Amino acid sequence: MTRTTERSSTRSSKTSSSRSSKSSKPTSSRSTKSSTTEPCDSIYDLELIGQGGTGLVFKVNDRSVIKVPITSSFGLQAIERERQIYRRLRKRPSNYVVQCLDAEHRSGLFLERCIGTVRGRLRQMLSGGSAFPKINSDDALDLAGRWAYQAAEGLAHIHRYNIIQADVGCHNMLLDQEGNLKLADFSGSSMTDKPDSQALIIYDIRSRMPNVYEPDHASDMFALGSAIYEMVTGHLPYPTLAEKEVQRLFYQRRFPELDRLELFKSIANAIRGCWLVNTEGGFISAKDVANELRKTVEKEGITVKTMTEEIHAIIRGLVIAAKGTATSKKRKTFPS
Ligand SMILES: Nc1ncnc2c1ncn2[C@@H]1O[C@H](COP(=O)(O)OP(=O)(O)O)[C@@H](O)[C@H]1O
Ligand SMILES: [Mg+2]
Repeated sequence: MTRTTERSSTRSSKTSSSRSSKSSKPTSSRSTKSSTTEPCDSIYDLELIGQGGTGLVFKVNDRSVIKVPITSSFGLQAIERERQIYRRLRKRPSNYVVQCLDAEHRSGLFLERCIGTVRGRLRQMLSGGSAFPKINSDDALDLAGRWAYQAAEGLAHIHRYNIIQADVGCHNMLLDQEGNLKLADFSGSSMTDKPDSQALIIYDIRSRMPNVYEPDHASDMFALGSAIYEMVTGHLPYPTLAEKEVQRLFYQRRFPELDRLELFKSIANAIRGCWLVNTEGGFISAKDVANELRKTVEKEGITVKTMTEEIHAIIRGLVIAAKGTATSKKRKTFPS
């Protein structure tokens, strides 16, 4: 993933840029006392559990985290963008997108707490070994099929509300306590129906559709293809080739072989359909990808969960807390 201002030069991931950055000075979170956001005097009393190129993520309690911006104009711009996107999504919750519990606190965003990223989980599963032999077990492929389905549903959901993620990848897909995948990180995303809200970032080269300068539905889907490929192989396409070579191959519509997925045709079809998006043999929407993968998920008897009671309880708790403190305008943003 690269910031849009650095698209044509060498890659500069959000992750690497954040290493030398400090977060903006957080304010006290006393005003956020509620069933979801426990009291604490400073966010720095909280445990840091994750960081990327725009934000630091701290554990608030077992159910929630707070994401605060790094100190830079880009960090502040990015968290404002993410805030706007979560305001839109909070009215339309999905099982496959991280739930924002409070988008209005000035220190940052309160989000449902997940246990880690899909990429992190894949690394654990591979534990240093080579990808295919270890991960290509039936169990691992069942899991990848479920993740792929959930990622496609998540992407279809945000696209329905004119949001382009712009950095689709296993690093921005989180797993909840029950191992279900949720799309996350909208800090560089765009809103196609809103002026001046172009994407602030762009995909990693191995997830980037050729000739894409402004991310759109198609480029998100292309990147979803590479993410699903990573779910089944443990790595992005062509891990040993130089980025320029990868770009050249993608430009020629040459992609890694998927023959080893013969027994899991839906997964292979989904990856291929994403990489060929909007061309012959390709899909035209993320919903097509989800429909293709639904076959695998249903065949394997994997339960497609509805929104859990727990999330409903969190939202109910917030509504009650908000009644005491928030403005009527803010209350309107809570899903019923
Ligand atoms: N809701 C969450 N629950 C648990 N960990 C999270 C959550 N959101 C983010 N993280 C962790 O923080 C890291 C950075 O978050 P992310 O939203 O991707 O920030 P950035 O915009 O800086 O890339 C993630 O890779 C993940 O490890
Ligand atoms: Mg991220």
